[in-house]
Amino acid sequence: MAKNRTLLVTGASGRLGRRVVELLADSRADRLVATTRNPDRLADLAKRGVIVRRADFDDPKSLQAAFAGADRLLLVSTDAIDAPGRRIEQHRAAIDAARAVGAGHVIYTSFAEPDPRFMVAADHWATERALAASGLGWTALRHNLYTEYLAQVLPEAIASGRLVAAAGEGGAAFVTREDCARAAAAALSSTDTGDRVLEIAGPAIVTVRDVARLASELAGRPVSYVPVEPAALKAGLVAAGLRGHVADVLVSMHVAMAQGKFRAATSAVADLTGRVPMSVAAFLSSKSDLLPAAAAAR
Ligand SMILES: NC(=O)c1ccc[n+]([C@@H]2O[C@H](COP(=O)([O-])OP(=O)(O)OC[C@H]3O[C@@H](n4cnc5c(N)ncnc54)[C@H](OP(=O)(O)O)[C@@H]3O)[C@@H](O)[C@H]2O)c1
Repeated sequence: MAKNRTLLVTGASGRLGRRVVELLADSRADRLVATTRNPDRLADLAKRGVIVRRADFDDPKSLQAAFAGADRLLLVSTDAIDAPGRRIEQHRAAIDAARAVGAGHVIYTSFAEPDPRFMVAADHWATERALAASGLGWTALRHNLYTEYLAQVLPEAIASGRLVAAAGEGGAAFVTREDCARAAAAALSSTDTGDRVLEIAGPAIVTVRDVARLASELAGRPVSYVPVEPAALKAGLVAAGLRGHVADVLVSMHVAMAQGKFRAATSAVADLTGRVPMSVAAFLSSKSDLLPAAAAAR
């Protein structure tokens, strides 16, 4: 069967990008190109027929060859949050290359509430503006906070019985990376060409206090929510070994939760994928191996 379109995924050795490629790898209708800085890591996908090319947004000259032939392109936002503004340059280079090769539509993994004043969200705000000015068709998939973040912080919270956060009484419409990947795969393989912003969110708003309660239930031992001021949270993160800027980024997420910035629970995941997104409770239950282990470690 002749393949009609070429779909391209950037950042394809990252957790999200790789999963999108896996979900689309067996498509008979579309040719699939996966670009990455690490082609060796995608050897298994190349064996399944995926065209793997090297692309590094820090090397703009390489990008036109990497993106050649792409009709629709999923631009996975990079993780370069170490230096403010660096990601914007990376994403602009990718958008310029997409335009230069004649791609029709770019789907971008953005972030809930992009805002020029708000740490990492400023990069997403600037990237969305660059897309809107590019003349390309574009879709912004504004990911809410990944539920997986909770699996990072809860073992320590369960072990100590204290979930320390600077989120006030706020929370988020946490969404799993798997649901984000499924939504991105659906958006990339669709025929939709309109300029759209979609809030990719979980099924409900879950506060940090709710998370502590869920952790208590799952672990079978009390876990109290301990709200602290942002400066105290930063001091704790730095004492635990985080670099200052990375700690600032994490603290800014907590402050944004306190300000109610991630409270857009929407039907976008179900609309795109036909599946209801996973709840925080279901996600944490699926981590039952992790939570009792943390409790036992106390
Ligand atoms: N909403 C949230 O809560 C949340 C949480 C974490 C991350 N994110 C964002 O979502 C993105 C995907 O998440 P993830 O968990 O899959 O991240 P990850 O596993 O840490 O992967 C990092 C991603 O950045 C790409 N990248 C880094 N430097 C690059 C460069 N110079 N040129 C091209 N690509 C580059 C990597 O591509 P290759 O390695 O394949 O080149 C990879 O796709 C992250 O990069 C970040 O922007 C959102």
